Amino acid sequence: MSARGRVKSVMEDRSVYKSVGRAEDLSRISKRVAGITVSAIKQMPVLASKVAGAVSLGQGIPSFATPPFVTEAVIRALREDEGIGKYSLQPGMPELKEEIAHHLKRTRGISVDPETEIFVSCGSMEALAGAICTLVERGDEVLVPSPNYASHIEQILFAEGVPVFVPLIEEEGWRIDLAGLARAVTPRTKAILVCNPMNPTGAALTCDEARAIAELAIERDLFVIADEAYDFLVYHPSGHASLAAISELKSRLIAAFSFSKMYCMTGWRVGYMYAPSHVIDQVLKVHDAFAICAPTVSQYGALAALRATNGRDGEGDRFIVRLVAALDDRRHLTCGRLDRLPSLFSYQKPQGAYYVFPRIVPAGIKSMDLSLRLLYEAKVISVPGSGFGPTGEGHIRFSFGGTEEEIDDAFDRIEEWASGAGIGL
Ligand SMILES: Cc1ncc(COP(=O)(O)O)c(C=O)c1O
Repeated sequence: MSARGRVKSVMEDRSVYKSVGRAEDLSRISKRVAGITVSAIKQMPVLASKVAGAVSLGQGIPSFATPPFVTEAVIRALREDEGIGKYSLQPGMPELKEEIAHHLKRTRGISVDPETEIFVSCGSMEALAGAICTLVERGDEVLVPSPNYASHIEQILFAEGVPVFVPLIEEEGWRIDLAGLARAVTPRTKAILVCNPMNPTGAALTCDEARAIAELAIERDLFVIADEAYDFLVYHPSGHASLAAISELKSRLIAAFSFSKMYCMTGWRVGYMYAPSHVIDQVLKVHDAFAICAPTVSQYGALAALRATNGRDGEGDRFIVRLVAALDDRRHLTCGRLDRLPSLFSYQKPQGAYYVFPRIVPAGIKSMDLSLRLLYEAKVISVPGSGFGPTGEGHIRFSFGGTEEEIDDAFDRIEEWASGAGIGL
C-alpha cells in the first residue's frame, strides 16, 4: 500500500484516536479502566514499529546509555550479592533511601527522614499514580496546568477524579496562569498537579511562580503533587525552582522524582516519592498491592548513581553536566531547524526538559492527522498535541532526546516532505 493509502486507512480506522490501534471490546471491562486510554506518547512508537526506517522525534528517551558507574556496580553485585535477585524491603532499600535523603538535602536544602518520608517506586510514574490514588476520591478535582503530560490525566481519571485543565499562557512561553489557577479552585479541589520542568511544553517555573503556587495551596488548603522527573534539566541560569524546597509546603507536598532521565535509566523503572510520613504510610498500601517493591536490581543501580554524585565533581556530577550540555546543544539545533519551517510551525523556546511543542501554523490540520502523515509519508515519529489535554490540539510534540544526526535527519525529511506536500497539505 502507498504511504498515502496507509495514512488514509489508519485515519479511517478511528481506533487510533482512542487507544493503541486495537479494536476495543469494552463489555465486562470496569468503567474505571474503560474510561482511560494508552497515551499518544506510547501509541506512536507502536504504530512506528511497523514503519521501516522511521526516525524518532517521538518518545522522551535520551540517546545516551546508562553510564558505567551504574552498570558496572550492578554487574558486580549480580556476581557477588545474592540479595540483588530478591525482593527488597517494601518501601525500598534503606541505604538507597539514605542516599536519596542526602541528595535532597544537597539539591534542595531540606532535611528528610529517610525512614518515614521517602519510598522507592517503580519509576516516578508509580509514585504519581500512588499519590493520586491515595488522595483523590470520586469526583474530587485536580487542577492541571495544561497542555500536560498525558499520563497525569489517565491517573486522575483512573482514581475517578476530575482533571480541571488550566491553560498555560502559550504566547508567554507557556507560562503558568496563576490567576487562572486561583479562579479554578472550588470546594471539590483536592490538589494541584504541577510538572516542573513541563512535558510537553518545555516550560519551567520561576522561583516566584513556585512560591505563588505554594501560597495558593496553603491559602485554599490543597495538596500539591509535584512531578519533578526533569529537575536536573533546566537551561536558564537561575536553575530549577523545586517545590520541594519550599518548607512551608512540606505538610501538603507529595513530590515524585525519577532516575530515568538524569541517569538515562528509563528502562530500569526506578524513582521515588518524598511526602509527609502519614501520606507515605498510606501510599505504601497502594505500592504493596500493585508492585510489592521497586525492582531490587534497579535500586542497586540507583544507589550506585547517587553514590557517584556528590555535588563536587563526582563521576555522576560530570555525567550530568555532559548530559545537560549535549541536550542544550540539541535544543538549539532543534529550534534552529524549526526556524526554517515558519509556514508549518511556530514555537516557544523550551526552558527545560527535552521537548518542544510547536503550534501547527496551517489552519484546520488536526494534530493526529499531521503526526500520521509525518510518520507514513516523511517517516518521522512525533506525538500529536491532542494527547496532552484539551489545549494540546493544534500542536505537535517533538523530543530532542535523540542524537544531532537523528534530529538533522528528521528535519531534513520534514522539510523535503513539506515542500512536496505544498505545506497547505
Ligand atoms: C513529566 C513526566 N513525568 C513522569 C514520567 C515518568 O518517568 P519514570 O520513568 O520515572 O516513570 C515521564 C516520562 O517521560 C515524564 O515525562
